[in-house]
Amino acid sequence: MKRVTLVDVFKHRITQKYLQRSGINHAVTVAGYAFDMAVKKGVDPDLATKSALLHDMGHYEWYRDGKWDYDEYRKSDIHAIKGAERAHKLLIRLGEDRLVAKEVSVAVLLHTDSYLPFGLEEKRTALQDVVAKADEKDEQPMGLHHYKQMDRSEALKRLHELDLKIEEFLEDDDELA
Ligand SMILES: [Fe+2]
Repeated sequence: MKRVTLVDVFKHRITQKYLQRSGINHAVTVAGYAFDMAVKKGVDPDLATKSALLHDMGHYEWYRDGKWDYDEYRKSDIHAIKGAERAHKLLIRLGEDRLVAKEVSVAVLLHTDSYLPFGLEEKRTALQDVVAKADEKDEQPMGLHHYKQMDRSEALKRLHELDLKIEEFLEDDDELA
């Protein structure tokens, strides 16, 4: 089966619609961190980068009077739940392997523990941990990481480079198996 690439995922209109809200810069940056962390931790970089790219696609726009309403967001946010569903639907539409779609969806669901009452950190799988840590690495106070800019062409360039690195890694892995 032909691999669904990060570029395929990024170009889809659903991704374009939802990534505008949480920021393309943040999504692409976190995908880059996730690749490096995944390779170090023995996690599949294809799964890690897809989860990272899509981790915030569940965001709703919490605007009030033209400004992000952080208090309302903190109280009512369920972006990880929405994102898990959206990421799954998107990947299935792109013809992604169902197990990959599930793993990515669950990693998106568990990337933040802001609404979960139990100590989730210790229970995360290696993949889920990589995605959560890659996200934390790019976070700034008051959600400022969502406002960093990146052109579409720059995002495509970076994702294409990541795709090449992932394919090279997966080929080497196959040869060792
Ligand atoms: Fe994030």
